[in-house]
Amino acid sequence: MSLAVEEDTPLSALLREGTRADHGAANSEDFIEQLMSGALNRAAYADLSAQLLVVYEALEGASTAVRDDERGAGLVFNELTRVPAIERDLAFLYGPAWREEIRILPATREYADRVREISGSLPHYAAHSYTRYLGDLSGGQIVKRMMKQHYGLDGDGVAFYTFPDIPKIKVFKDAYRSRLDDLDLDPEEVAATLAEAHHAFHLNRVVFTALAEIHC
Ligand code: HEM
Repeated sequence: MSLAVEEDTPLSALLREGTRADHGAANSEDFIEQLMSGALNRAAYADLSAQLLVVYEALEGASTAVRDDERGAGLVFNELTRVPAIERDLAFLYGPAWREEIRILPATREYADRVREISGSLPHYAAHSYTRYLGDLSGGQIVKRMMKQHYGLDGDGVAFYTFPDIPKIKVFKDAYRSRLDDLDLDPEEVAATLAEAHHAFHLNRVVFTALAEIHC
């Protein structure tokens, strides 16, 4: 019997195992590989940051509904809020007129639309929250190092990957996983969470593909 169907497996473990292949695929996208290897430039990184703004506006908009959900409130952490950090990054990367300069891709709008569409559904929100925030706290920290090494971004421009209110990332990630495990989802909701997590990775990949068409 596969891990994904064992009833007593914690949700965090189901998500980790269930999205392992999606993660590998996202990591292997041309845009990510080239950005991480130093083959691209600050403009490519800035374009990614602009896409993230729209995604996180939707995600953090959805989190307000979850705050009011008796079961979900514990999954919303103020210290994860990313929109103000992305706005600071964009102001640095594009200059003061950044709002007029950024270009949001259709793939990004589709991603954000999906997040808005599912807001109010705890399993779906959990999937999107997991895919982005745990990713930012994990691979995101590697991205931050690489952006410094290859493109000289240090502090300014990479605030998105900096969590000043999370002193120990590993401890926080464990706490986040416990909150996922304590959501008290029924089997149908667990299945919905896993399905939406696959979809969330897919939506990220589609954005990376669109970015590759421009920058790679
Ligand atoms: C730049 C490319 C990436 C690198 C180098 C990377 C690297 C990693 C690493 C090393 C971990 C494991 C951390 C740990 O065990 O504590 C991880 C976890 C994770 N990554 Fe990535 N990642 C990348 C891209 C992505 C993307 C594009 C997403 C989704 C949008 C993502 C989502 C996640 C998630 C959700 C986890 C948590 C897995 C779990 O413990 O349940 N990552 N990543």
